[in-house]
Amino acid sequence: MADSTTPHQVAIVGCGIIGRTHADTVAARPDATVTALVDVDPAAAKALATRLTEAGQPEPKVYGDLDAAVAGSDISLVAVCVPSGTHAAVAEKALEHKLHVVVEKPLDVDLAKGRRLGAAATRAASHGVVCSVISQHRFDPGSAIVAEAIRAGRFGTLTSATATVAWWRSDEYYASAGWRGTWAQDGGGALMNQGVHTLDLLLWFMGRPVTIQAQAIRAAHHAIEVEDTLVATFTFESGAVATLHATTAAYPGGRTRIAVHGTEGGAEIEDDVLRRFNADGAKEDLPVAEQSASDASVQQLSIDGHTRQYADILGAIDAGTSAGITIQDGIEALAAVRAVYIASTLQRPIKFEDVLEGRYDDVEVSRGIGLPPK
Ligand SMILES: NC(=O)c1ccc[n+]([C@@H]2O[C@H](COP(=O)([O-])OP(=O)(O)OC[C@H]3O[C@@H](n4cnc5c(N)ncnc54)[C@H](O)[C@@H]3O)[C@@H](O)[C@H]2O)c1
Repeated sequence: MADSTTPHQVAIVGCGIIGRTHADTVAARPDATVTALVDVDPAAAKALATRLTEAGQPEPKVYGDLDAAVAGSDISLVAVCVPSGTHAAVAEKALEHKLHVVVEKPLDVDLAKGRRLGAAATRAASHGVVCSVISQHRFDPGSAIVAEAIRAGRFGTLTSATATVAWWRSDEYYASAGWRGTWAQDGGGALMNQGVHTLDLLLWFMGRPVTIQAQAIRAAHHAIEVEDTLVATFTFESGAVATLHATTAAYPGGRTRIAVHGTEGGAEIEDDVLRRFNADGAKEDLPVAEQSASDASVQQLSIDGHTRQYADILGAIDAGTSAGITIQDGIEALAAVRAVYIASTLQRPIKFEDVLEGRYDDVEVSRGIGLPPK
């Protein structure tokens, strides 16, 4: 493991789209370097190694599995960037090697595996090992402003929220890797893969859900197993309610929006930027200056969020504290996704607590996705 004078030595496991984002994020930091790249596809790992060396980085070694990388390279932190259904297995392996871990979202597709990883992370934390899950939009300046206002009571009593992710993903996107759009490895569609970021923000803002109702369908993509469109309603412990809409079947140009309403204020975030903010009963109070200048257009993967979250994770490693986003946060987001699918499958309201505690672990959600019942 790195001490405070040596750079964090990062192994990236899974060198596809998001593996590149992690590599670029680490490469931009003076206190971290990518020492190992791991992929079952040697060409993917080699291509990423070339990208890093062409950017002036030291050449990382390339491996076919994590055990070989641990044996052959100095590694302190493992970034888990493989398909979603393999996240927990790779993360647990990294923890067995007593390495710090950052897992891409979602935590996994299987809640039981997520809980097991949570237990392993808790054991590892007692030895100073940091384990976090990516939820980069919690680090957007606008999201942080809203969360802080809610915690400080500046919106009064929260009454409701709406969240929508209206995106388009083509058939070519789903065909671009064998795991996409499958229950086993993607674990779901518009919600598990694309909407989970916004659902995680909804939970962060609104607190713990109580009851969830939902309808998931395949509206436009018929070659995939999972849903491309869903709607859900939530009640929360606070008494507030919310709607959630996620789709990859909206004509390109649709946006991501989350709006939170209370008796003394409220806020609206559109495409990751805070567009409206009222607090303390005041008419207009938009802290735009506190936001980042970047206004990344939807569906364009910028490294800003990962950059901010890596600062949090590496800071936690250096300080010997836990990261801002814990495996328990990832478990709760995954349980909320599962609760939506279970509610759609069983066509009745589902208690979030029951899902979190495993009472629905054996429900096969794939049969719940399709056209709405007539
Ligand atoms: N945070 C975000 O905004 C964001 C964005 C995109 C993807 N993701 C997440 O990142 C993960 C990967 O998505 P992607 O789009 O990069 O996928 P991808 O298909 O582009 O890349 C995955 C890579 O993992 C490799 N791989 C598969 N199994 C492996 C194993 N057991 N060991 C080592 N390598 C293995 C594949 O060969 C491939 O190169 C998914 O869970 C996805 O949800 C997150």
